[in-house]
Amino acid sequence: MAKILVLHGPNLNLLGKREPEVYGYLTLADINQKLQERARQVGLELDAKQSNEEGTLVTSIQQAEEAYSFIILNAAAYTHYSIAIRDAIAAVSVPVIEVHLSNVHAREEFRHQSVISPVVMGQVAGFGLDSYMGALEIAIRKLQAENKI
Ligand code: DQA
Repeated sequence: MAKILVLHGPNLNLLGKREPEVYGYLTLADINQKLQERARQVGLELDAKQSNEEGTLVTSIQQAEEAYSFIILNAAAYTHYSIAIRDAIAAVSVPVIEVHLSNVHAREEFRHQSVISPVVMGQVAGFGLDSYMGALEIAIRKLQAENKI
């Protein structure tokens, strides 16, 4: 069975109570549940992990090689400066879809740069929950086109 890894970076464990005017009122558990429901509908296995630590995210990306067909990654603040996460993405052959709840390009200037964007398949940003759902839909369409689901 094809598997998808959803990786959430630092502070996303606080969703629901963290700056809700920016990130909304859904918790991380809510988001993971919606993703699970959609994955199940199409016969996909989906694992979701969150870490506040750069090294843990790097290790998860490394270990995704062979095990997962896609990674949906919200690297949170690491997006803007973690060369280690960028290098991990570049080192594996698993395609990565970058997601952000908020439209990072419409926010502070330091959020306009993503050091991971050059090594991911593409970015979905600014749609809240639907950034994740949209990324999952893209992964589903690709896997269906390849007859993997
Ligand atoms: C974020 C945007 C980042 O700039 C920020 O550091 C986050 C969340 C988003 O999902 O909108 O923690 O990745």
